[in-house]
Amino acid sequence: MPSVKFRPFADDDFESLSDIYGRLWCDARREDEMRLFGAVAVATYLSISPHSIVAEHDGRAIGCALGRVAGEASPSQWRWHRNLLIKAARAFYPELSRRMHDQLLVDRRELDVAATYLQSDDDCTSAELNLLMVDPDTKGLGVGGRLFDLMRRKLDAEGADGFFLMTDDECDFAFYDHKGLSRLASYESQTVPGAEGEGREVKLPGIYIYGQTFRQER
Ligand SMILES: CC(C)(COP(=O)(O)OP(=O)(O)OC[C@H]1O[C@@H](n2cnc3c(N)ncnc32)[C@H](O)[C@@H]1OP(=O)(O)O)[C@@H](O)C(=O)NCCC(=O)NCCS
Repeated sequence: MPSVKFRPFADDDFESLSDIYGRLWCDARREDEMRLFGAVAVATYLSISPHSIVAEHDGRAIGCALGRVAGEASPSQWRWHRNLLIKAARAFYPELSRRMHDQLLVDRRELDVAATYLQSDDDCTSAELNLLMVDPDTKGLGVGGRLFDLMRRKLDAEGADGFFLMTDDECDFAFYDHKGLSRLASYESQTVPGAEGEGREVKLPGIYIYGQTFRQER
């Protein structure tokens, strides 16, 4: 896609990226709810990602890649933002708050899976790609591929031996097969009781861990 600039994250990108995340992964009908859902997620990923690459087109962020090398300090101000946004959702958007509870169950399971994987001595544990997404309107135009390649190069340049990522069957995970990553582990989808009881059940998606070592490429 011509005239796309790639650069680090700036605070002004937060709104556009929250909007993209909400459109990709939140099935709320109201636009403000989708955006708030996206804002919580993007703040969460920023809070664990010292490295960022944003794709900008016409002055607006249209995609990003966020990552971290093991042992690096994370930008803690985003954790504060995230907690504030969750409180706002609880106070003003009860239906969205329920969705967020469900999402927390998904996140917790992914964290448990990641924690188990991180105990292995695999070279891929030395860095993590935390988020990769592009605006749904610009899919298939080369932006995501470029963001991925730039972040992979960045993590390599930071001295990581390799990297891994968590994805699930609600994502375009075949992209990582296409990019030559190995699937390191798979966990089937599960149905669990909803966080707030009431006999509700929540379907947790199947989870995949993908990874790649850099030494093979050198
Ligand atoms: C996955 C995603 C980042 C790809 O970005 P994109 O801009 O659409 O991809 P590109 O146009 O740059 O494609 C780059 C290459 O990947 C291939 N590709 C793109 N999406 C693919 C998919 N879903 N499955 C397999 N290959 C894919 C393209 O054919 C292209 O191949 P080539 O370089 O050999 O020509 C984007 O579709 C997206 O944001 N999806 C929703 C969020 C998501 O699922 N993120 C990743 C998992 S968490």
